[in-house]
Amino acid sequence: MAEQTSPERATPERIIIDTDPGVDDSMAILLALASPEVQVEGLTIVFGNSDNVRMLARNACVVLELAQRPEIPVAVGAANPLVRPYHGRGASVHGANGLGDIPVPEPSKQPVEQPAAQFIVEQCRAHPGQITLVTIGPLTNIALALRLEPELPRLARRLVMMGGAVTVPGNVNPVAEANVHNDPEAARLVFHAGWPITMAGLDVTTRVRMDDPYLESLRDLGNRAGRFIYDITRFYIRAYRERGHPNMAVHDSSALVSIIRPELFQSKPVTVDVETVGELTRGQTIGDWRGQYGRPPQTELLLDVDAKAFRALYRERIATLP
Ligand code: BDR
Ligand code: CA
Repeated sequence: MAEQTSPERATPERIIIDTDPGVDDSMAILLALASPEVQVEGLTIVFGNSDNVRMLARNACVVLELAQRPEIPVAVGAANPLVRPYHGRGASVHGANGLGDIPVPEPSKQPVEQPAAQFIVEQCRAHPGQITLVTIGPLTNIALALRLEPELPRLARRLVMMGGAVTVPGNVNPVAEANVHNDPEAARLVFHAGWPITMAGLDVTTRVRMDDPYLESLRDLGNRAGRFIYDITRFYIRAYRERGHPNMAVHDSSALVSIIRPELFQSKPVTVDVETVGELTRGQTIGDWRGQYGRPPQTELLLDVDAKAFRALYRERIATLP
């Protein structure tokens, strides 16, 4: 892996989570909040599972309040891809409200005034070399931040993303994964920016499945977080079943677990690029396994994971939340 961190490390890795919450996003945020290996500096909101970014930001605030972490800032970002109209179908998987259509209380917490891209740039400038950008939505906010600060790849520590599908089929079409497909031009800029990337694409995220007995075990932990995860996943797991999968993939948490427990993963370095114009292949992430592009590998591509240990860790951590 590009960066190995030991479970005993003294200082947590500072992270900003760029997210479109989202059922699996909310699950990933809760995992981060429960994990001493990372310190969440902020949540930045991007369109993706909906283009109503105010609603997605409200969902982020709901999750932070549930975890009793209202001090963590939420900054609202892009509502549209860089160059094309939004065409996502997130509501069919995450519900119209992004949280599986369960009723959620109006949070007291409000997002900060600062736009997401500016927040990312200012945090990275204030703590050079320290902040890891964890992206679990389309890469539009990061592309906008790169526009504001071309030195961002040197100012950030690294980028860890959930997105793409190099060695396996896509989930929006035969070759493209939703986060990259939602804004391929932004993803391309990010892969060309010159920072070390850890990529949790469908290659690895589809290997971690949660079924109803497991989700019931989270519900029965006796805390609000476990109950919330059970409730929001009712809609999401049904959407998987309707598509022929007996249980659900928990994509976004893989990006977090790769930071918290890198030793659970197998990976390979590879140069990744993004197709932006193909009639059938727009949004495809291509792995240059033979070095034919003539560029050194910028991406550590996660390929396999100990799913059993992942699920055990997830439950253990969620149990520590309110
Ligand atoms: C990704 O798309 C979104 O629907 C999920 O939240 C995840 O980030 C999976 O392709
Ligand atoms: Ca997401």
